[in-house]
Amino acid sequence: MDPLLAAALAARENAFAPFSKFKVGAALEDEGGRIHTGCNVENATYGLTVCAERVAVFKAISEGARQFRRVAVAADTDALTPPCGACRQILWEFCGDADVVLANLKGKVERYRMSALLPKPFDQSFL
Ligand code: THU
Repeated sequence: MDPLLAAALAARENAFAPFSKFKVGAALEDEGGRIHTGCNVENATYGLTVCAERVAVFKAISEGARQFRRVAVAADTDALTPPCGACRQILWEFCGDADVVLANLKGKVERYRMSALLPKPFDQSFL
């Protein structure tokens, strides 16, 4: 299996999702080939929940990574779970037009470019 997908699936196992029971794992491949992972971390206030993708990005940035080639997202859904709108914005700003691999636990896989998931993005080029 693609090591990036394996990492996203493994990270999903650490999801802290006692409220939704919806576990998500994410993994980023940086420019040096290093893999950074994240899982969703829920909060009793609900609104402070952070998605797996953003956890992965912020962990990676905090460890010094700056450029990313690929993103993987894993969840247990038949229709593959895509990044939410907030995560698309964060992924665009930190990963650019990266390849995004979506997967479920049954081995279904789909690939997208970030520019297909977030057409006409706002970013620092407008500032
Ligand atoms: N969630 C993610 O972590 N990533 C996604 O791509 C979609 C949603 C989380 C947030 C929340 O903990 C749970 O899934 C249900 O929305």
